[in-house]
Amino acid sequence: MNSSLQTQTESHDCKNYNQHDNENIPDRYLQEEKEISVGSRVLPSRYFLAPLAGYTHLPLRTALRELGGIGLATTDLILAAQLVSGGRKARELIKTSAQDKPLSVQIFGSQISDLTRAAVFLEQMGYEGIDINMGCPMGKVNSSGGGARLMCDCDSATAMVAAVVKAVSVPVTVKMRLGWNSEQITAPLLAKSFEQVGIAGITVHGRTRQQGFHGQVNLDGIRQVVEAVEQIPVIGNGDVRTLEDAITMRDITGCQAVAIGRGAMLDPWLFRKLKQLHEGEKPTPPTPDEQIAFLRRHFDLMLHEHGDYATVLFRKFAGWYGARLGIPEDLEDRLRRLDSPDKFQEIVEEIKRRHGERTTTTATALIKVPNGPVERW
Ligand SMILES: Cc1cc2nc3c(=O)[nH]c(=O)nc-3n(C[C@H](O)[C@H](O)[C@H](O)COP(=O)(O)O)c2cc1C
Repeated sequence: MNSSLQTQTESHDCKNYNQHDNENIPDRYLQEEKEISVGSRVLPSRYFLAPLAGYTHLPLRTALRELGGIGLATTDLILAAQLVSGGRKARELIKTSAQDKPLSVQIFGSQISDLTRAAVFLEQMGYEGIDINMGCPMGKVNSSGGGARLMCDCDSATAMVAAVVKAVSVPVTVKMRLGWNSEQITAPLLAKSFEQVGIAGITVHGRTRQQGFHGQVNLDGIRQVVEAVEQIPVIGNGDVRTLEDAITMRDITGCQAVAIGRGAMLDPWLFRKLKQLHEGEKPTPPTPDEQIAFLRRHFDLMLHEHGDYATVLFRKFAGWYGARLGIPEDLEDRLRRLDSPDKFQEIVEEIKRRHGERTTTTATALIKVPNGPVERW
């Protein structure tokens, strides 16, 4: 997936992240029920981890869940045909554990039969939720008719969703964007149509496919989806980095839940803080010990999963974690070039000694995201 992506540097200032508290939060959010039903599933919190292919695999999901507050996590998008044919990568992506719950598996594809077979396979394997991806702007995904392309053809998209819903008894959800471009905002129409065929919930990333990851998330666009459906929960998604962003998302859109992707790596404690906030407590920032323990825990889980190759896979997290975890810039740089588990231990010992010496509060996250509209998409 990453090969056809261009690198885009994002910088996020973590300076004020610890200063948010619940003073400006409307009472209704403090008093509401924490649980939310998505079809027959009752999820423990209204804040979900959005899928970030290549990042939110089992080790990160586990490390984040241990901090508390995650209502639902979703796997990377998985090509349905590969899942049913037993493809190695697809089978790796559905890897889970007893702690990794609640979990949905996200599938995509252009053939209804592939999707229904994948959904039945997943249900038989004991997975409790299926999510259909209709939001990915990647060329590779769209050229096969899956992903966001489906959003241009309401009848076909609805027929596909209906077939998957009919094939399984576990709840089926959809994740989509607002539409193909600003002239084709199809999400409200699709959401309405999907609800009629039994979808259990809809996650909407408030950008169009044409926007890629540029511009700002369109909260009014998400609100239109909320207004288009009768009962099912709409999960708002896009650019939530702080407690206030999460509450603003809910306030402006009226969505019942929020999915957080990149914000979870910028602040792994965001879900815990949201939980505290809804319990009427003052959200607590992590102590230095907790920050270092999280870093170690995520790495150990990756090591367990991937062996020594975890050192290479871990490099891309350094830029996300550096500012939040108080890692001095030179040590963040060393993590970015990590090449052995022993070096990780050395670096962590040095982080412990020099924790907080960092001079900048800006995360130097380097993440590969699709860089705007590209002709072949
Ligand atoms: C590197 C990367 C990988 C992603 N992979 C997926 C994916 O597998 N499935 C999906 O539905 N969305 C995927 N997304 C989109 C995110 O789930 C989310 O909709 C988007 O990043 C906006 O939310 P955020 O600002 O909270 O990150 C991905 C985004 C990024 C940056």
